[in-house]
Amino acid sequence: MTILQLETVGKKFHDATKHSPLSVMLDPNYVDSSTQPTAFKSYPHFYRRFPLDQNNPLHKLIYLTSAITFEKKYKYESYHLRVNPSAGALYPTEIYVQIRGVKGIIDGIYHLEVATNSLTLIYELIDDGLESYILPNSLVKGFIFLVSCAYYRSSWKYKNRSLRYCFLDSGHHIGAIEAAAYVYQKGIQVLFDFDKISLNNDLGFENKEFITAGVVFGEIKSKTVRKLRSQIPFVSPTDYFEANLFIEAGYRNTISTNPKTDPILNPEIASVNPLFNCQSQDFSEAILTRRSARCFKSKSITQTEWQQIWHFLQQPLPTASKEKIEIYFIINFVEDTESGLYRENQLIKRGDFRERAKYLCVNQALARDSAITLFLTSTYTNYQTAMQYAGWIGQRLYLISNYLGIGCSGIGAYHDDVTQEFLGTNNDILYAMAIGR
Ligand SMILES: Cc1cc2nc3c(=O)[nH]c(=O)nc-3n(C[C@H](O)[C@H](O)[C@H](O)COP(=O)(O)O)c2cc1C
Repeated sequence: MTILQLETVGKKFHDATKHSPLSVMLDPNYVDSSTQPTAFKSYPHFYRRFPLDQNNPLHKLIYLTSAITFEKKYKYESYHLRVNPSAGALYPTEIYVQIRGVKGIIDGIYHLEVATNSLTLIYELIDDGLESYILPNSLVKGFIFLVSCAYYRSSWKYKNRSLRYCFLDSGHHIGAIEAAAYVYQKGIQVLFDFDKISLNNDLGFENKEFITAGVVFGEIKSKTVRKLRSQIPFVSPTDYFEANLFIEAGYRNTISTNPKTDPILNPEIASVNPLFNCQSQDFSEAILTRRSARCFKSKSITQTEWQQIWHFLQQPLPTASKEKIEIYFIINFVEDTESGLYRENQLIKRGDFRERAKYLCVNQALARDSAITLFLTSTYTNYQTAMQYAGWIGQRLYLISNYLGIGCSGIGAYHDDVTQEFLGTNNDILYAMAIGR
C-alpha cells in the first residue's frame, strides 16, 4: 500500500465511525450489562505461572504497567479499575512480554495475567523470538512488550466506533508501560510498523485479538533471530465472541505494509528517558492512584500548573514513527489566562466557550466545568499509529495532572464534524480530554 492509500483508507474508517447529534440520538449504545464478555484473559491451568513479586524491581515494573488499583462494587456486579483507563471500563487490551537474558527469569514469552498479578509462560525461547517480527536482524537482551486488543470486549458495547477505542486504549497502555519504565529509569522505544499479521498468526490469535504495538527496552544487538518455531495455541480472550468485520478490516487495512528499514531511533535518543522531571516515588504513587474525574467544580487551576502540564505533553515520544498530533484546547478556568480557544498554546479565539465545549462532547458536563478541555487532532499518514499516539499522550496527561493533584478524564464521545468546524481545522479529531479541579 502506498502512503496515500494508507492515509485514504485510514480516513475512511475514521469517517465511518463519526458521531453526530443525529447518530447519538439514533443509537445511544444501550446494552444489557449482564451480557458483557469477560475482561480478563487466562491461559489454561497447565501453563506455568510466576506471581509478580512486589519486592523485585523488574516484577514491580511489569506490575505497574497493568495493575488493578480499585474495585467498584454495584449491587449485582463489580468493576476492577486499573492503572490504565479504558473507554467504558471495558479493557480490550492485553499485554505480552518477551524476556531474554534477565537473571532469575526463564527466557520466554509471557502473558501478563492481570487478574492474578502473574506472568504465564506461554513459550520458551531457544534461538527464536519476537525480534524477527518486530525488529528484524536484532536480538533484544531485555524486554519486548506487546500490546494487543481483544476487540470484542469493546465492540460488544460501542460497535464500529470501538475501532477508535481499541487504538486509543492501546495508546494509553503504551503510556502506562512508559510510565512504569520511567519509575525504574528505563528508556523505551515504541514500534508500530512491523509484520503484525504473521505475529498475530504465530501467537495463535485467530481473528479475536490483534497486536497494535511493541515496546522495547534493554540492549539491542545485531543478530538474526528465528521466527517462533511453533505456533502458540489459540486461547480465547473472552468467554464468548461475536465477530465485527468492520473492526477486523479497520485493523488490517491500517497496518503499514511498508515497514521502515530502520524502525529504531538512533541510540542516543533511545537511551534517554523522557524528561518528565517528576519525583519517582510520587510519580509511582500517581500511577497507582490515577483515576478518571467524574465531575469538575468549575474552579481554576494556576497558570504554572498548566505550563507544567503543557511542558510534560511536549516531551518527544520515543518512537521512530512520524505521526503528528496537533492539540487544540478550550480554556475555561486558568488563573491569569484568557478564556478562549487555543491551538498549540496560541490563543486563536477569545471567549467563554464552556457551553460549546459541553455540546461538542455530546453534552458531557465534564467538558464545560473543566479548567481546560483538549482536542487531540491530526492529519495522519497511518491512522492506527496516530490514534495510539493520541491515547499515549492522553496517558501522559492523566499522569501529570494526577501527579499535580488535578483531575483528568478521557472523552471518546464527541461530535466529530461540529468539533472540527468549531476548531476551524481540517484535521480529524482523534480524542478529547478534560482536566480540572
Ligand atoms: C479512550 C477513552 C475514552 C473515554 N471516554 C469517556 C467519555 O466520553 N466520558 C467519560 O465520562 N469518561 C470517559 N472515559 C473514562 C473511562 O470511563 C474510565 O477510564 C473508566 O471508567 C475507568 O475508570 P478509571 O479511569 O477511573 O480507572 C474514557 C476513557 C478512555 C481511555
